Formats: sequence, structure tokens, C-alpha cells
Amino acid sequence: MSAPLSRIRGGVRASVRHDSAAGHVTGSAIYLDDIPSVPGSLDAALVLSSHPHARIKSIDLSAAIAAQGVIAAITAADIPGKNDIAPIRTDEPLLASETVEHEGQIVAAVAATTLDLARAAAKLVKVEYEVLPPVLTIQEAAANEHCVAPVQKMDRGDIDAALKSAEHRLSGEFHCGGQDHFYLEGQIAIATPGEGRDFHVFSSTQHPTEVQHGVAHVLGIPFNAVTVEVRRMGGGFGGKESQPTIIAAIAAVLALKSRKPVKLRLPRDDDMRATGKRHPFFFRYDIGFDDDGAIKGLDLTLAANGGHVADHTPAVLTRALCHADNCYWLPALRFRGLPCKTNTVSNTAFRGYGGPQGMFAIETIIDIVARHLRLPLETVRKRNYYGIGRNNVTPYGMTVEDNIIERVVDDLDRSADLKIWRESVTAFNKTSPVLKKGLATVPVKFGISFNRPALNQAGALVHVYMDGSVTLNHGGTEMGQGLFIKVAQVVAETLQIDVDNIRITATTTGKVPNTSPTAASSGSDLNGMAAKNAAEQIKERMTDVAAEQFNVPKGEITFSSNRIYAGNRSISFAELAVLSWDKRVSLSATGFYRTPKVYWNASTSTGRPFYYFTYGAAAAEVAIDTLTGEMRVLRAELLQDCGESLNPAIDLGQIEGAFVQGMGWLTTEELVWDTKGNLRTHGPSTYKIPGSRDVPPIFNARILQNSPNQEETIFRSKAVGEPPLMLALSIWLAVRDAISSLSDYRLAANIDAPTTPDRVLAAVDDMMKRAATL
Ligand code: MTE
Ligand code: MOS
Repeated sequence: MSAPLSRIRGGVRASVRHDSAAGHVTGSAIYLDDIPSVPGSLDAALVLSSHPHARIKSIDLSAAIAAQGVIAAITAADIPGKNDIAPIRTDEPLLASETVEHEGQIVAAVAATTLDLARAAAKLVKVEYEVLPPVLTIQEAAANEHCVAPVQKMDRGDIDAALKSAEHRLSGEFHCGGQDHFYLEGQIAIATPGEGRDFHVFSSTQHPTEVQHGVAHVLGIPFNAVTVEVRRMGGGFGGKESQPTIIAAIAAVLALKSRKPVKLRLPRDDDMRATGKRHPFFFRYDIGFDDDGAIKGLDLTLAANGGHVADHTPAVLTRALCHADNCYWLPALRFRGLPCKTNTVSNTAFRGYGGPQGMFAIETIIDIVARHLRLPLETVRKRNYYGIGRNNVTPYGMTVEDNIIERVVDDLDRSADLKIWRESVTAFNKTSPVLKKGLATVPVKFGISFNRPALNQAGALVHVYMDGSVTLNHGGTEMGQGLFIKVAQVVAETLQIDVDNIRITATTTGKVPNTSPTAASSGSDLNGMAAKNAAEQIKERMTDVAAEQFNVPKGEITFSSNRIYAGNRSISFAELAVLSWDKRVSLSATGFYRTPKVYWNASTSTGRPFYYFTYGAAAAEVAIDTLTGEMRVLRAELLQDCGESLNPAIDLGQIEGAFVQGMGWLTTEELVWDTKGNLRTHGPSTYKIPGSRDVPPIFNARILQNSPNQEETIFRSKAVGEPPLMLALSIWLAVRDAISSLSDYRLAANIDAPTTPDRVLAAVDDMMKRAATL
């Protein structure tokens, strides 16, 4: 482990625990639903569409309004401003008006004196529909280029010539599923009307500024009339980037109508039906490669299920295109991204934001290529890794300058003793007729920064009080990932005071305005830098005061271990704070940061969208039962690059959590829509996220040592929130390996993700049939 930088408690690189760890486990950490209601507060419930595609003929609220306890009921007609909450494009209605475009779309809402009365009244709303034919699958939408946004392209070289001249050529199709965020705290907001036009909104959101904008647009009031606040979320995972705007804006319209505080908290089933998820993708590939596995050209279509409106789909698709290279140099390529429109709930951001799907594609294709050539996957990968100083330009024209993938892969290989591990797996399979084991590795390269340059900025606000205590505020939000403690460590380090002196305060649009979402894993990169900037300004002023006090040049003043020194004389940080006040020196500052170097041309899909890359590698062993299709992960070894980690304890938690979440996406979590377009998996009884007993019994996660970020990030750390999710692709490839063992590793498995028992069983049967003809 790299040592902390300083002797203070909780400086950077110290493994201090999450500031709310005790609160999370004792229940004293306050979530929105724990805030005591003020008298007169109302609870709200939603009316959801029962058809995936229909014209709304009429909505009759009268029975609901007449019901006991009901104070207000609304439809689109009650929206005073614009019925549009689109985060990227426009025309995405808050409440359905003329048509509904997915089952579970929000049509109306009711507020009543109690939650039970609101939910009962919502059932009395009568909606008459004229049913229209729905488009339910990506394939149907893709066939007609039925899209929510323009098609995206990325090209390099003469792909047709490259495919023709290659020694081998393979083509095919496969699919990966979506994923519900399944945050423990569901979507929730409390909207309170204030004086005049003012509104205060508590929202469980990763993006307070977008909620502020959404509420203002819908109510038709200026941004400065809306204050949005969030202390913490019980998980967001991308599901609280754009979706909370819907919840908050509905609460606000109900609050406007009733002139009362309104709380809208969705029950799990409504949450799963009405809010967006990870995008399922359908892929079609045509690849040319030589005998040694060298890829000559890849023609890849990535068709995302965007659902009924664009929401984040265009940006998720861009990130998928930007990660379909993973760690590999592709001399010629044609990527086409289709943001397909279907009559299912609009999909949105989810940890990795298209990156996992892009990497899923290339890693699956490499598996297919390797089996075809009867080569180990690792050999084919090695043949195609980005080079150092050559073959190092990505499909979008960015040079990979910080490539350490081979070092990471070799480190994992050695520490996990991969050769011996592999031998034990193949030996097991020789003597086990029913249970088959699989083992696979995966390398990961993930780009850090928002693809849209404007979002790579952050602000912070730091106050020092006269007793030396500090309050810290910034635009980032806390969703369990440990952002608040990391940024507090940065301020502690900068001011050289123990982290216990720093009080972390709720994110609010009233303190730091115009913020970006806490997303793209860049929370600590951006807000850490902004907070450092604020703390440095105050430190600079306090240094002047100390220099005057000790009568020495500024350069002789040092801050260290909670004290300020001039040679062998010193005073405490608190004493210097009082002294500064006495001299009428401001102890408050706003900080700002923007990421350097990044730019992006969306029309050509080229630029430098990422400030840097983060790397990782994993190996996973699974066992499948060839008679039932059941599957378990037996062992996982992870190695993740965190640069110089700001907090190794927090980062390890992120690595383990992301991996398990990725495991759920690829193995057990299945979203099932029936042929009528109804989501059939909308609760924990039918939708299976990993439980504690699904965690691999042998599970080792490590942070790569001696790997400072080459770029000047906050104390040379690297972002960690999303990248390790993609390490779970090792599990996907291990399941494929186990199935492939049935052909003595000569054939690639025919299977889509997630690897549910029925899919594994079908793939096993298919493999046995094909193996028999070899
Ligand atoms: N960790 C926890 N515990 N809960 C979450 O909701 N969200 C993930 C990741 N880790 C999440 C999490 C996602 S999608 C992102 S983008 C990052 O955290 C956001 O926080 P960061 O930028 O501070 O890493
Ligand atoms: Mo994370 S999907 O960028 O919120």
C-alpha cells in the first residue's frame, strides 16, 4: 500500500472510512424518506400506462379527486410551463399527453393526506386508450432505422479492402441485456412551495442542477427560484442522473397545485416500470484477421435499445463506440451506432455508460476469433494490444499516451498463478462429466472524462470558522461511493489539518451553481480539484497573516500537522483563523476547476474526449451444471489501476462492488418484456440481483501499486467508480469457456448475456450438437 502523504489524520492516500459508515449501518444516516414531514405535507402516487403504445382518448380524474384525502390530481394539462424534461435533446414529456409510448409511462399523479390514500386514489383514475401497434425489439427497430437520435459513425482506413485481404473472416450477431439500477433507496423527491414563486426541492439525485432546471422549466419559473438539495442517495448507479427530474418535477407540480409540501416516493414496482435502465445492445460484426490473430479490420454495428425517447441514449452510444476498441489497435474499422427507438421504458445512464456494452462486443468477438484459430484468448489479445509509440491511435483519433495494459495483465497473471490455475480447471473438466469449469481473463481500458467537454468543470465552497473548524461544499453528490470523504481528505491535506475538522455538507444548487452530474466516475477528479483550489486560496491568505505575525517572508511559513510554523515558532490552525479574522482577512472561498486538454467533435466522432485512461485486469473461474444450466462464480482475482489512490479502503470497496454489479448484469439480472410489451420482472421476486452468497468464495481485489497518473489529476489519483464493473466481463468469458470445453475448446459458445440457466442450457445443447459433428 502506498503510504499517506502527511502525518495528519485522514489526509490523502489514507484509508479512512466512509464518513457515513456508522450512520449507514446504524440507521442514523438520514435519507429523504427519514426527514420528518411538516404538518400538512402530502404524499403522492403515480398513474402508469397499461399499454406500450396507445393514443390517450381521455383521462378522467373525477373519481380520484372525490376520493378520501385527495388534495390534488394532475395530468399534462396541469403543467404551467413546458411539458419537457429531456436532458440532452428536447420533447420528452414529463407526463404523457397525446400518446403513451411504453407500458409504465407516467400519465397522471395524485397527492393525498396519506400515502395509502394517494395510492388508492391513483387506482381510480380512468384512462381511455386507443391501442396502437408497438415496436418492442431492437431488431425490429434496427431493421427500419427507427431511432431516437441520429445514427453515429466511426471510421478508419479501407474497411472493405481490409476484410477482403484478411486470411480469415467471420461474421455474426449477439446480444446483451439491460439492467435495472436496483438502488436500495428508490426514486424520491420532496417539493415545498416557499414565498412567492420560490420552490425548495429535496431530491435523491446525482444531478441537482438538472433537477433545478427541470422543475423550473415545468413550473415556468427562473432557475434562481428553485433550490435543490441532496445530502446523500441510497445508491444511484446512473439511474439518478436524469430520472430524478421526472420525480421532482411531478412533486413540484402537485405542490404548486396544492400549495403544500409534496413527497413522491415510488414503490419498487413503479420504480422499475417507470424509470430507465441500462441499454440492452444488439451487435452485428464482420471481422477479418490473420493466422496469428492479428485483426485487419472490424465492421461492427452497435444497436442500443434507447426505449421510447432519447434521454441519455446518444451519449451512452457514443461512449459505447469509444470503448468498442477496449485495449486493441484496429487498423481498419467501421463502427455504426444505432440509437433504436422501441416502445419500452427509455433507457438511461448506468455505471459504465455504454462502455461495458462496447467492451462486451470486442471481447466476445476476440473469444470467437481465438476459438476459430484454436489459440488462447490471451495470445490473440497480445497480438492486438495498443503499442507504445506505435499502433496507438484510437478509432476516434485520440493517442493512447498512458498505456500500461500489458504491465497490468502480466502482474495479474503472475499474482494469480494463471498457468497453474488453468491446468487445474482443464484437469477438473477431464474427469467431471456434468459439472464443467471455465476460466477467463479480461483486460480493461476505460476513458475518464465526460465525452461532452463542457461537463468537465466543477465548483466548491470552503469556509474556515474562527475555531479552526471547516465546512466543505461542492457540486458533487454522495451516493455511497465515498466522494465526500475523498474531497474532505483533499481539503485536510491542503490545509494540513485532521479530516475530523472538516464538516461535509449537503449538495445544494444554492451554494455551488451550474454543476455537472456526479457521473462518468469523475466526481473526485473534478470536485477534488475545485475544493483544493478553494482551500489553497484561503491558505494563501492565512499564510500572509502568519508571515506578518511572525515577521518572516511568506516562503518561510509552513502548514503541517494542524499547526503553522515559522522556523521553530508555531501557532495552531485555530489560532491563525482567529488572527485572520482579527486582521479582517476573508476565510471563505469558492474554488473552480476545468479539465485541461479535452475536446470532442460530435459530427466526426473524433477528438480527445478523455483526459486519461484507467486500466485493469481480472480473472474469474466459474462452474456450470450441464444438466440444469445453473452457474456459479468460484473465484475472482481483480487488479485495478487507481493511480495514487486517494483512499485505498474506499477504492477497494468500489472495485468489489462494481465487479459484483457487473456480475449481476452478465449472469442473473434479466429484464423480461412479454410479447404485449409489459415488463414482467419489476420486483426482487423476479429480478435477481446478486446476493451475498453469490459473491465468489475466493475473491481478491488489489489496487495496482506505483502507478501515479501521468496527467496532473488530484494528487495523481485516477477515477474508480465505473471501470471495475467491466472486470466482470471475465465471468462472461469464463462461462463461454466452460461451454467451449464441451468441444475440447475448439468451438465458441452460442450464447447471449445474461447467462441465465435457460440460456446456458440451450448453449450447452447447441455446443454438444456442433461438437458431435467435428
Ligand atoms: N458506488 C455506490 N456505492 N453507489 C453508487 O450509486 N455509482 C457509480 C459509482 N459508484 C455508485 C457507486 C457510478 S455510475 C458512478 S458514475 C460513480 O460512482 C460516481 O461517483 P464518482 O464520480 O465520485 O466516482
Ligand atoms: Mo455513472 S453511469 O456515470 O452515473
